[in-house]
Order: sequence, then structure tokens, then C-alpha cells
Amino acid sequence: MTASIHEDVERVILTEERIRERVAELGAAISADYGDEPVLLIAVLRGAALFVADLARTISSPVEIDFMAVSSYGSSTKSSGVVRILKDLDEGIEGRHVLVVEDILDTGLTLKYLLKNLASRKPRSLEVVTLLSKQGKQRVPIDCKYVGFDVPDEFVVGYGLDYDERYRNLPYIGVLKPEVYTDQPPSVGTSAQGDGYS
Ligand code: PRP
Repeated sequence: MTASIHEDVERVILTEERIRERVAELGAAISADYGDEPVLLIAVLRGAALFVADLARTISSPVEIDFMAVSSYGSSTKSSGVVRILKDLDEGIEGRHVLVVEDILDTGLTLKYLLKNLASRKPRSLEVVTLLSKQGKQRVPIDCKYVGFDVPDEFVVGYGLDYDERYRNLPYIGVLKPEVYTDQPPSVGTSAQGDGYS
């Protein structure tokens, strides 16, 4: 029998309850800002899938949801700041209020590319909500209107964030035991927080 994924976690940095509280606060702030105006949530796959599902349910404004997928961390293009779109939006965004939903802001290169790309489609407004922002890691300035938590530059997993595609289903956010990632390096092309994580 395989060991529980919980056993690979060294410590929890954000509990399920703390995440739920903060997501509700973000939802309340977003609802207050948009009021009765419809807002399109654009979640960036795959990490933000869990966050957007919970966030959307805390927003009282009319919400629509769409998804984009971009080339993952660790790809040769990412470090240059060139991001490849693997899945584009299903609908146009011209004239609409757009809120990009991210799970984590790390170097900022993904969002820099995405925001430039989306801005060229002429939305009525364009803002960002990220659940996590890594302290001191941003290589480019990103204007993020809503930030859930500032987190230290550690390998965090859970609540959508993976290590080598695992641990996204942890209900909390935690730091992995070092032996988990030193014994088994991530496969090429998998997502990472600069070093193999996201
Ligand atoms: C993560 C995260 C952001 C990006 C942030 O995605 O979801 O999209 O990295 O990094 P940056 O600020 O340095 O650009 P990842 O490519 O790991 O894919 P995933 O969401 O499928 O795990």
C-alpha cells in the first residue's frame, strides 16, 4: 500500500480553515469592487483550478469562468519570459471585466506575458487575484490587486500546487520533506517553483 500523501509533508503553513477564511475575504473584496457588474474569472491551469472553484462561490457579483493553460515552469522558454499558450480562452474578452486567477505568483514571468496578451484583446478592465505571492522572488513588477498570502521562498504544495504533478489534492498548503524531492527529481517539463515545484 502506498503511504499517505500527508506523510510527505514536513509542515503545514496554511491550514484548510485559514485558506477558507482568506478566500472568503478575497471574495468579499471582489464582490464589493465589481458590485452588480459581471466579471469574467480567467483561471490559469492547472494550479488555480481548486482556488477558482472556491473563490467563485464566495463572490456575489455575476461571475463567468474561463480557463487558459500555458507552458509550464521548467520549459526552456519559461526562463526567457516567453510563455506558450496551450489552451486559449473559449470566448472573446473585449469590453468585459476580466480577473485573472492564479494560484501562485513567483517570478511573475507568466503573469507578465498573460497580462500583455490579454490587454491586447481590449477588456474593459484587467486585474489579478493570486492566492500566494512568493516574497522576494518577482523578477518583473506585477500589479496584483488581490493577494491571499505572502509566502516565503520554500517548496510549497497543496490546494492546487504540485510537486511533479502530485499533492494538488492536499486541502492545506504545506512544505514537503526534503527527502521527497531529493530522492526523486521532477521529470523534465513538469511544473516547478523555479527548482521543481509549483
Ligand atoms: C505556476 C503557477 C503560475 C506560475 C507562476 O504554474 O500556477 O502559473 O507557475 O510562476 P512565475 O510567476 O514564475 O511565472 P506552473 O507552470 O507550475 O503550472 P501548474 O499551474 O499546472 O502547476
